Amino acid sequence: MNIPGSDVYLNGQWLPRGEAKVSAFDRGFIFGDGIYEVVPAYGRKPFLLDRHIKRMLENLAKVGIPGIHSEAEWTALVQELVDRQEFEDQKIYLQVTRGMAPRLHSFPEQPEPTVFMFADEMTILSDERAKEGFAGVTTTDFRWLRGDIKSISLMAAVLGSEEARKHGATELLFLRDGVVTEGASSNVLVCKDGAISSPVLDKRVLSGVTVSLADEIAKQAGMPITYRDISEAELRAADEVMITSSGKEVVAIVTLDGKPVGTGASGPIFAKLWAGYRAAAAAGNG
Ligand code: PDD
Repeated sequence: MNIPGSDVYLNGQWLPRGEAKVSAFDRGFIFGDGIYEVVPAYGRKPFLLDRHIKRMLENLAKVGIPGIHSEAEWTALVQELVDRQEFEDQKIYLQVTRGMAPRLHSFPEQPEPTVFMFADEMTILSDERAKEGFAGVTTTDFRWLRGDIKSISLMAAVLGSEEARKHGATELLFLRDGVVTEGASSNVLVCKDGAISSPVLDKRVLSGVTVSLADEIAKQAGMPITYRDISEAELRAADEVMITSSGKEVVAIVTLDGKPVGTGASGPIFAKLWAGYRAAAAAGNG
């Protein structure tokens, strides 16, 4: 298959997409044994890159994959990737696997991690389209209990996102033991009577870079986010529901399982967070 786009980075080389190949014995291919990041870039400036690199290095340490590059080296590599692309706004993908090794579940003694990076065009919604909002659906959280690890093993996200797509929805929201955890590939914000809540960022949930920015914007607007267990009933009775992610930015969920959220239109808190996000993205910092 021809994969359109500019050069990608693979283990120290810049290659046309069709020539970027890894071993069938790569543990990423065999076990999904790797860590990834998605980073937006606006006007060719990677956005909140320091937070993404920090999280990736923490995640690599959590699963015992050697870090390969320093923070400064990662920063330079990502900037070079961005500079090689033709688009102003980009969605950058970084992946590090435990590399090629004989198929044994336990770690190889001397792992040689595989490093892969590419970037695609990032499409940004118009203010009008963003304000219209999107549909969400819910399901039981059937994932493992280490949602804090940004693992490339994404079967649950793949199945969840396909389920959402089949229902004409933009995101699937997971419920575990009667509380909201997160979206298939996003964090969740729930608003009631002007107060914003988000699930506790413990091991069930990825500590999102975008929600960390939303937290700062909300604080500046005098409505700090409270991190707590949010029941399914609270989710369904919310005035506003939003999801955040590096790929989707801030999205208003205006219907949930086919029923309106609040008035069924995006609300004033979404408008504040959306404007705050756009301003931070335009300024190139958070
Ligand atoms: N997903 N929770 C999950 C399960 C995610 O996969 C993501 C991001 C987030 C939000 O994290 P951040 O704000 O740092 O992007 C939360 C990426 C974008 C993806 O899989 O494409």
